[in-house]
Amino acid sequence: MKEITITSKFSVYDTQQEMPVDIQNLMEQAIAIRKTAYAPYSKFRVGAALLLDNGKIVLGSNQENAAYPSGLCAERVAIFQAGAIYPDAKIVKMAITAASDTNTTASPIPPCGGCRQSISEYEFRQNQPIEIYFMGEIGVVYKSDSLKNLLPFMFDKNFL
Ligand code: THU
Repeated sequence: MKEITITSKFSVYDTQQEMPVDIQNLMEQAIAIRKTAYAPYSKFRVGAALLLDNGKIVLGSNQENAAYPSGLCAERVAIFQAGAIYPDAKIVKMAITAASDTNTTASPIPPCGGCRQSISEYEFRQNQPIEIYFMGEIGVVYKSDSLKNLLPFMFDKNFL
């Protein structure tokens, strides 16, 4: 028996002002679109903003449903929209923010497992890593250079 260790690397920005200006702008757009979340059940609003290699920004917010699993996370709303509107563009950067209507979310909110798998498909498809920045409503911002840091042992088409 032997053990393997997998490491993930993240950068931590103490303030949004510490981030590159284009990311500050992307995060501002994620914060703005967060307000459009349709979240009457969870009261938890998530915003996602994507910067594409064609310069376009594509946005998403979570959309819930009375039949709970029929709703969709902000990240997937955004990446599926990007795939539909700009199928040939690559997603270069992604900013995510989450805020609750009932309390202040101060720790960085990472994409859920389902979103990680969906984002991994796009990273794999475009053969180029996606920079992912995520935060709560306030507080530090985490940055990953690739989805891979968030999803060890990721499943891709090579296993099929
Ligand atoms: N949510 C997202 O939009 N993204 C995530 O990565 C985590 C969860 C949404 C789904 C649901 O509308 C609410 O947050 C509570 O789970």
